[in-house]
Amino acid sequence: MKFFIDTANLDQIREAQDMGILDGVTTNPSLMAKEGITGDQNVINHYKAICDIVDDNVSAEVIATTFAEIVKEGEALAALNPKIVVKVPMIKDGVKAIKHFSSKGIKTNCTLIFSAGQALLAAKAGATYVSPFLGRLDDISSDGLILIEDIRTIFDNYGYETQILAASIRGPLHIVNCAKLGADVITAPLAAIAGLLKHPLTDSGLATFLADHAKAAGK
Ligand code: G3P
Repeated sequence: MKFFIDTANLDQIREAQDMGILDGVTTNPSLMAKEGITGDQNVINHYKAICDIVDDNVSAEVIATTFAEIVKEGEALAALNPKIVVKVPMIKDGVKAIKHFSSKGIKTNCTLIFSAGQALLAAKAGATYVSPFLGRLDDISSDGLILIEDIRTIFDNYGYETQILAASIRGPLHIVNCAKLGADVITAPLAAIAGLLKHPLTDSGLATFLADHAKAAGK
């Protein structure tokens, strides 16, 4: 399973990359705004900086919502770096644009997926990734993991190569459950990824090992 970090914060991207477990990055307009990245040139420079840190795909989301504008913006983003994946919203013009990008060999990530039917449409259009939003479904008392399971079944039934990129992850257990269900990729905040490290028995076990070593060494 691939690990992407869901942030536009360069320090957090570097920290995850330094752990040696990071593959790529996903961003969205809200995450870019959170880092204060505004203006076309600043946004472009920021995507380039992110691409310089990681080895795999970097999702860059279009702001446009009409076919012609999505194509124009997406082609400009894709030209920045071969790692860039054009992130397109699940709307009618977005699906049409995904089909266009697919025919041109441009990678896409269809975002704001909240149903299996939406994921099926995106796969049919040739999306490289679909991004089902687990946490936001959980937030409204709907089980986001069932959506991951349903999409996995549908993609496997027909051999769709579209990868399931589980998004809107809230914590380490979401990541583990996505792995159990066969999601191809998770994208998560640094805290959720780092949460995988933690177990109280690891901490107490290590403390005992170190104390025993010190005692035996007469320290
Ligand atoms: O990748 C999509 C993700 O950023 C949405 O996460 O936490 O805003 O629901 P969240």
